[in-house]
Amino acid sequence: MIYLDYAATTPMTDAAIETYAEAAKTVYGNTSSLHDAGGRASYLLENARTRLANKLGVNRDGVIFTGSGTEGNILAVLSLARAGEGKHVIASAAEHTSVHAAMNTLEREGFEMTKLPLDENGLVDVDLLEKSIREDTVLISIQHVNSEIGTIQPVEQIAKLARRMNISFHVDCVQSFCKLPVAVFAKEVDALTISAHKIGGPKGCGAIYINPRKRIVPVFPGVTHEKGIRGGTVDLPAILAMVTAMEEFTYHRENFEQFRNRLKELLNDSECDFVEAEGNHQLPSICGLCIKGVEGQLVMLRLNEEGICISTGSACDINSASGTKAILAMGHSLSKARQFFRVSFGSGTNEVHIEKLGAYLKKISLEARG
Ligand SMILES: Cc1ncc(COP(=O)(O)O)c(C=O)c1O
Repeated sequence: MIYLDYAATTPMTDAAIETYAEAAKTVYGNTSSLHDAGGRASYLLENARTRLANKLGVNRDGVIFTGSGTEGNILAVLSLARAGEGKHVIASAAEHTSVHAAMNTLEREGFEMTKLPLDENGLVDVDLLEKSIREDTVLISIQHVNSEIGTIQPVEQIAKLARRMNISFHVDCVQSFCKLPVAVFAKEVDALTISAHKIGGPKGCGAIYINPRKRIVPVFPGVTHEKGIRGGTVDLPAILAMVTAMEEFTYHRENFEQFRNRLKELLNDSECDFVEAEGNHQLPSICGLCIKGVEGQLVMLRLNEEGICISTGSACDINSASGTKAILAMGHSLSKARQFFRVSFGSGTNEVHIEKLGAYLKKISLEARG
């Protein structure tokens, strides 16, 4: 099997699996228990918090472990927005489903939401964002890297704008954590989200950073774990495996750039187009593609028959009939959105995989042309 769906999830690394197994066997005490078994678990939990805070370059008091990136986004968006003094929130139209779900909840509570389009490069237009700000805007939530097309949003610029306008800013860093330098802006934002399974850690584990000086309204009032922001006994083995994966993760940027360029060469005179941003605004390991006249779903199934795993967009929107959000947010038609598929590279990707992928895509494209 050739796995080219690393943006959907990654295999756990050996070190993360070993850490998980070792912790599950030996540190099974509840981190909240007052006996020695609990004390040892709590010591390791706090150590993991410090390691993650150091990686992000933020105050460890703001690090909250969660059950996923989805949960992290929802907790961050709801708890920051509800603490604000206005009723207006802003996100891009291409945010992860969890951000939109949280904002839909806010709408039902009387908030108004502005959904920003993406420009022709798949980027948020900061001038348009600035124009959308109102007196009652309390929160902006923009992802760092789009999961479907891999474009890198200008989050540092947005952080400065949000700070100047005194508006809370949340960044979904699920696709960028360990791949881009999140620490350069983490201190400048009010909240950010990460997830373990995109970097070789376990599924069902993540974290948020919420600036500890920020006022928030907890989503589940009265819970006691994780500073009252995320209730429930923490999954210490998963958290330890996540920070192990984080510390050993290497993003092979140059390799991914070469793979991307080679794929472009292979598809040069075909009907297969890349949907991407220019230069530094593009994460090289995520390739958004369309073959004119062929549904992305069909491309995915055809490649699957050849033992190649890719996807038609975000795994979380798999039941949506509308194609992909990023493509629609860029103003493309529904039929183009339906043609969309995503290839994403990771630690196990090599030149042979790219050659095979290119050959099959070319074949599908030629058949469509014929
Ligand atoms: C940008 C983005 N945010 C959030 C998530 C959700 O993370 P999780 O799968 O841990 O819930 C994903 C997952 O694909 C994602 O790509």
